[in-house]
Amino acid sequence: MPTLNTQVAIIGAGPSGLLLGQLLTKQGISNIILERVSGEYVLGRIRAGILEQGLVDLMREAGASERMDKEGEAHDGFEIAVNGKRTHINLQELTGGKTVMCYGQTEITRDLMAAREKARLQTYYEASDVELQNVKSDSPSVSFQYQGETYQLACDYIVGCDGYHGVSRKTIPEHVRTEFERVYPFGWLGLLSDTPPVAEELIYCKSERGFALASRRSTTRSRYYLQVPLTDSVEDWSDDAFWDELKMRLPNESAAKLVTGPSLEKSIAPLRSFVCEPMQYGKLFLVGDAAHIVPPTGAKGLNLAASDVATLTKILTRVYCDNDPACIEQYSAIALRRVWHGERFSWWLSSMLHNFGETAVSEIDNKTFERFMSSELEYYLANEEGLKVIANQYVGLPYEELY
Ligand code: APR
Ligand code: PHB
Repeated sequence: MPTLNTQVAIIGAGPSGLLLGQLLTKQGISNIILERVSGEYVLGRIRAGILEQGLVDLMREAGASERMDKEGEAHDGFEIAVNGKRTHINLQELTGGKTVMCYGQTEITRDLMAAREKARLQTYYEASDVELQNVKSDSPSVSFQYQGETYQLACDYIVGCDGYHGVSRKTIPEHVRTEFERVYPFGWLGLLSDTPPVAEELIYCKSERGFALASRRSTTRSRYYLQVPLTDSVEDWSDDAFWDELKMRLPNESAAKLVTGPSLEKSIAPLRSFVCEPMQYGKLFLVGDAAHIVPPTGAKGLNLAASDVATLTKILTRVYCDNDPACIEQYSAIALRRVWHGERFSWWLSSMLHNFGETAVSEIDNKTFERFMSSELEYYLANEEGLKVIANQYVGLPYEELY
């Protein structure tokens, strides 16, 4: 049986695993990544495209920012439209100079993958049957199948970057784990097209027909979303039906300018809020979607994963460079504080912008909930203090230091 050795075993080569691997390598900490599917498959996933400054800085630190710095668009603001009435959120003015970057998550993954390959770091794609062993002991390990052989990987620490459906979280015994979850009664139907975007900035649209988002990837590529019932499937939505519905949810001036075209990709994603506590158990850490999911409103998913990576990099650097193994106990509390801020913001923005229809969402009836949330949105949009609250959370709260 082939045996391998490394300091940190990383499960999953999504953006979390790849970014962590890159940053640990910069600190001289060895790591091996195990990924269940092929690199090509990983790059087939289309996800959000708004990066907080914290993630932009990490990409630079990781030495993988060249294309992002060239092609990424700095966005100074975005719009919220309520039944066609538009409010501009000027991020730069409201936050004292902060902005976000518009650059697709798939491109982030592609750039990190290329950087890892260039540095000749070990990644096992199409590694199956990954199992975590002895995570509570001083000699944890991971076994997996690769090209017909069983491998054993010995390590000091294991990091679960294997997403919501991964194995790592389930390794934490049920009596130790608490999971928090809200499933929303609708999904987002996304469409990617090579058409010039309808606006230079993103437009989040609340409408009586449901939520819509006009986003973009470049001056020639658009990304749009529609709130749809969970019972809908992609086959129910022809491109024409998508464009017709989008026009009805966009403000009139935008609908009149909308350029339509064939879809490059169309998919439905359910909306979920999910947190697993704790995020560390023995020598195992959870990072990104393995520990938490947010609904996409506000684009916090990847940004929360990045703040976990930043915290864990600082911790493992202190473990190895300052010989302070006890500091791993700080991870869960520090990561979870920021995660819950992101969860609350994403839930709040989702609740204010979507149409909840007939489905029960809380202890109050839906009609009343809808009115409360509409009034809440109107209140925050009506004065500068309210806009600042939205803007400061949209650009992202600062990362916390270790103690
Ligand atoms: N063994 C090995 N790899 C696995 C396993 C397993 N048992 N299970 C899942 N994986 C891999 C998946 O194939 C995937 O490539 O782990 C990776 C997890 O990647 P993501 O789901 O992209 O999660 P993460 O890297 O945490 O990304 C953060 O931010 O915007 C959000 O949800 C969005 O994925 C995004 C997230
Ligand atoms: C996207 O561009 O895909 C996107 C942007 C902002 C969001 C969600 C998704 O809030």
